[in-house]
Amino acid sequence: MPLPKAELHLHVEGTLEPELAFDLAARNGVKLPYADTDELREAYRFEDLQSFLNLYYELMAVLRTERDFEDLADAYLTRAAAQGVRHAEIFFDPQAHLARGLDMGTVVEGLWRALGRSEESHGISTRLILCFLRDESADSALETLEAARPYLDRITGIGLDSAEVGHPPAKFRQVYETAAALGLRRVAHAGEEGPPEYITEALDLLGIERVDHGLRCMEDPELVERLVRERVPLTLCPLSNVRLRTVDTLADHPLPAMLDAGLLCTVNSDDPAYFGGYADDNFRAVRESLGLTEDRLRELARNSFLASFLEDDEERRAR
Ligand code: HPA
Ligand code: ZN
Repeated sequence: MPLPKAELHLHVEGTLEPELAFDLAARNGVKLPYADTDELREAYRFEDLQSFLNLYYELMAVLRTERDFEDLADAYLTRAAAQGVRHAEIFFDPQAHLARGLDMGTVVEGLWRALGRSEESHGISTRLILCFLRDESADSALETLEAARPYLDRITGIGLDSAEVGHPPAKFRQVYETAAALGLRRVAHAGEEGPPEYITEALDLLGIERVDHGLRCMEDPELVERLVRERVPLTLCPLSNVRLRTVDTLADHPLPAMLDAGLLCTVNSDDPAYFGGYADDNFRAVRESLGLTEDRLRELARNSFLASFLEDDEERRAR
């Protein structure tokens, strides 16, 4: 039985399995530049974050209708339930869809059709986190937040993703301030490929409550001390780090050192359809490659609920 856990770093578009991509392409009359699922899987060899993002954005072309987003989220929740996930805080990238002519309602209402019934159908409570693409402008992020206003009853927080290097958090200060005033929770990807300074900036200028990835904090001992002292959770994604070559091999992953340093680490799947594993696959991989003890694995599972945006009573029930 997989350990009960919360998934806190999961891009719903990154759960698009090749089979579903081809089904949706057929349903919507979209032509994919791959002959079949085998040929598509062959393209899953990434050099870095950008080489992955190119394919990630390309395949989104098959997502057109509310039902597509519902089917995508429902397929994820089915897999997540089998991996012990009891609570999922799910990222989505509306700018990538708005740029293709879809509207915010199609995306949010479609996802919500699956998320809204997830507790009954999958035993998984959910939250939705709207991510801004950091390689787009700050104005575009503000416009996206405006477009999301009618749907804020469905959206718990905001995040920041896509190409990190060259797009420091400071660029998004205003949109994070506006979101905070609207009562939204705040997270951001930082220190995946970008330097530790981006983590500090995201804490100081964006007021983030969790760091997505945050791996490169290990290059700055004072920052590690601060993250420990302030109990700032990190959402690590070990299989993603290997596939995007942030670490050479899983055996080189700094997770054990991070736990030893007292950091509040969680283990998550990021874009599981592309990186070779869902939540428990990541747990299993770190157990096998890093020799983590059962106690450590239980600590990681416990951390996932502590670091979630669940209220205390909900958290106890989910565990
Ligand atoms: N990093 C940054 N942006 C992303 C990722 C990621 O791992 N996945 C989807 N968008
Ligand atoms: Zn991510």
